[in-house]
Amino acid sequence: MKFPISPNIKEVHFPPISEVKGWIAGRSFPADKPLVDLCQAIPDYAPAAELTAHLKGLIDDPLISKYSPDEGLPEVREAVANWYRRKYGAGPNPAQLCLSIGASQAFWLAMMVLCRQGDEVIVQLPAYFDHPMGLKALGVRPVFAPFAEGRGGLPDIDGIASLVTRRTRALLLVTPSNPTGAVLPPQLVGQLLELARQKNIALVLDETYNAFIPGGPVPHELFADAAWSDHYIQIASFGKTFALTGYRAGALVASEAFIHHALKVQDSMAVCQPRITQHAVKYGCEHLDDWAAANCAMMARRHDRFREEFCRPGNPFSLVASGGFFAWVRHPFAGLTGRQVAKRLADEANLLCLPGEVFGPGLESYLRLAFGNIGEEQIGEAVERFLAFG
Ligand SMILES: Cc1ncc(COP(=O)(O)O)c(C=O)c1O
Repeated sequence: MKFPISPNIKEVHFPPISEVKGWIAGRSFPADKPLVDLCQAIPDYAPAAELTAHLKGLIDDPLISKYSPDEGLPEVREAVANWYRRKYGAGPNPAQLCLSIGASQAFWLAMMVLCRQGDEVIVQLPAYFDHPMGLKALGVRPVFAPFAEGRGGLPDIDGIASLVTRRTRALLLVTPSNPTGAVLPPQLVGQLLELARQKNIALVLDETYNAFIPGGPVPHELFADAAWSDHYIQIASFGKTFALTGYRAGALVASEAFIHHALKVQDSMAVCQPRITQHAVKYGCEHLDDWAAANCAMMARRHDRFREEFCRPGNPFSLVASGGFFAWVRHPFAGLTGRQVAKRLADEANLLCLPGEVFGPGLESYLRLAFGNIGEEQIGEAVERFLAFG
């Protein structure tokens, strides 16, 4: 490549999951010490059999291979809106929804509508790595709200308020958090919306893991506020909810006016979510509440088991925060980066996890373990390896 490319993209970190998976490329693992992959957050179970059977019945429909309206089929958005009413007690109407290629594309839709080059977005640390990557590619400056171990990954509202400048366009948080698993309590979410209102900026919440809040409570009460869409934007994913990560099932939830502008990006970026995905989402929203609740309960059991095993005396790694899918742990090697420790865990213990620093600056002392990736029966063995490694 001899021609110049955007200087913005040179600032962007290479995809961390690809980097870490590259460490084990070409390696094979012995039967008595197989690879334990705690790297990427993917439900380890298959989609519901009834959902896949339903999709098989649709594949010969000539319409299935065609575009849909940019925002998605009306009956699918209706089903999604009804799902929100059950899950949150209130929610967007269909015109406040644009179906997207995963939460990932919904994030780009939101940021491209909100920001110009040189703008700022306040990002709570530890940040989901794709967020700073996307912002930097757009020439938008992520302004990081620091992580405080003592707060267990929860934000400090006054600290966030002090970071707002005239260039700030949004507060960006993830709840339940990737990587800490921490769930923002509804009252704190309400305070964040109030702050966004005072500063007249957007509160953007990535709620990809909202199906995995133990006990399945209402995640927050923002939708009950008649004026929610004046300052709140939600990045949604059905990929984890219905174990459909490869279908790329997401949605942008925002005011009708915001969706109107987002469709200009949608049309030039993707046109629409694939129809087959839309049918999968509709089926899930209409039929799989119990299935999703059972998986949430299963994930909560895994979390309990993980905590029990990991917090055993003698583990040199310490659990800092954890939740439905993830544990955020401090490694015991002063002077080594998370990357150096994670690489050694891959090389010597056949354990794959992500270094803390991919979630933002200053986080080299941490590792993210996505125990949602492995079955309950593997947790004991995985934790044993951390104990032995120390
Ligand atoms: C916080 C967060 N947001 C978004 C995504 C991407 O979701 P999707 O697969 O729906 O694009 C992920 C995937 O791991 C995630 O952890």
